[in-house]
Amino acid sequence: MRTFDFAVGQTNPETFPIERVQEAAKTAIAKEYAQITTYPGKLGHAGLRAVMAKRESEREGVSVSAEELTLLNGSMQAVTLTAEALTQPGDTVICEEVTYSGTIGAYRSLEIDMVGMPVDEDGMRVDLLEAKLDELGEARKPKFIYALTTYQNPTGTNLSLERRHKLIEIAASRDIPIVEDNCYGDVHYDGEKPRSLYALSDYENIIYMCSLSKILAPGMRLGYIYAQPKLLETILARRHDGGGNYLAAAVVAELYKHDVWSLTDELNESLKVKKNLVVDGIRDEGEGICVSSNPSGGLFVWVRFPDDVDQEKLAQLTSERGFFYASGANFHIHSKQIPYLRLAFGHVPDDDIRDGIPVLIQCLREARTSNERPHFSTLFD
Ligand SMILES: Cc1ncc(COP(=O)(O)O)c(C=O)c1O
Repeated sequence: MRTFDFAVGQTNPETFPIERVQEAAKTAIAKEYAQITTYPGKLGHAGLRAVMAKRESEREGVSVSAEELTLLNGSMQAVTLTAEALTQPGDTVICEEVTYSGTIGAYRSLEIDMVGMPVDEDGMRVDLLEAKLDELGEARKPKFIYALTTYQNPTGTNLSLERRHKLIEIAASRDIPIVEDNCYGDVHYDGEKPRSLYALSDYENIIYMCSLSKILAPGMRLGYIYAQPKLLETILARRHDGGGNYLAAAVVAELYKHDVWSLTDELNESLKVKKNLVVDGIRDEGEGICVSSNPSGGLFVWVRFPDDVDQEKLAQLTSERGFFYASGANFHIHSKQIPYLRLAFGHVPDDDIRDGIPVLIQCLREARTSNERPHFSTLFD
């Protein structure tokens, strides 16, 4: 059976730069074979740290020191180490009410009490944050605020500039660290890239994390964390893995030796085509049944459908027809069944997007339990 697999956020195998990575690997191994025979230490490959610090500096327009940036096994390791270092079981953390499922899983296993903020087209509802913090009081004062500020997973929203400033102001005034997960930061399609929180202020309690998974390949397992030295030290005290994969880091440092942007821009072009195919497909086929986001970056389209869709039936119909997606409940911090689903398009061949979206829409129509007109017209109604 033909399948349409929109379930997991991965990059496009068709555009993986095979020859360039092969060349880089050949050179890196010849140059660095001796270092590869040793343990890499806590900070990781100095060359790749320098390249990533340069990429941050160029994107954000501020100076980022390679000394305050540590390579990790993907940004997921940054998520986990930070939570381990800053919380005890039962502690409270603020996050978006719908957020990355991997983070939800990690926080649950650390027995963190997640308190969710709603999300709208401008990202986290920071306008409700002070009231939420007052309500929690000293007893449940959050150990940090975890924020997906840019191309939020799953909604694709960007935290507006005004809310970015407000978030920093509130966190700083109450002495609450912010954990900014910018996993998708360079998977960019349109408009200006939103600026990261650390570039907008000198608040010292911002822990920033980023990844190469989404702009190159998750199998590289390369991400990094950037924070002030004392905070970084506290987080890295939890690290007991002998350091990250030095070989992968050496290859990628070689690949990006001259610049990171030309390859990134090239890969983003084909991702943008895919994103547009999903968004246009839903707009053209989904009239009266669903609406979607149109993200300016990232790997996901977030789809709102009528409340009366029977989600079990939807899952059954779609899987019978070979269509796979991630249901909204996966991203809700309390696994609430919400009338949304997420489509990950990065690795899906263009033809599968063209042919797959109508399959999904037909399943949505068949899974409805009434004929009433849906009461929403936008994604967050
Ligand atoms: C928001 C977010 N953070 C972190 C990760 C982890 O990615 P990685 O460990 O591959 O960098 C993901 C992966 O999907 C993600 O969506």
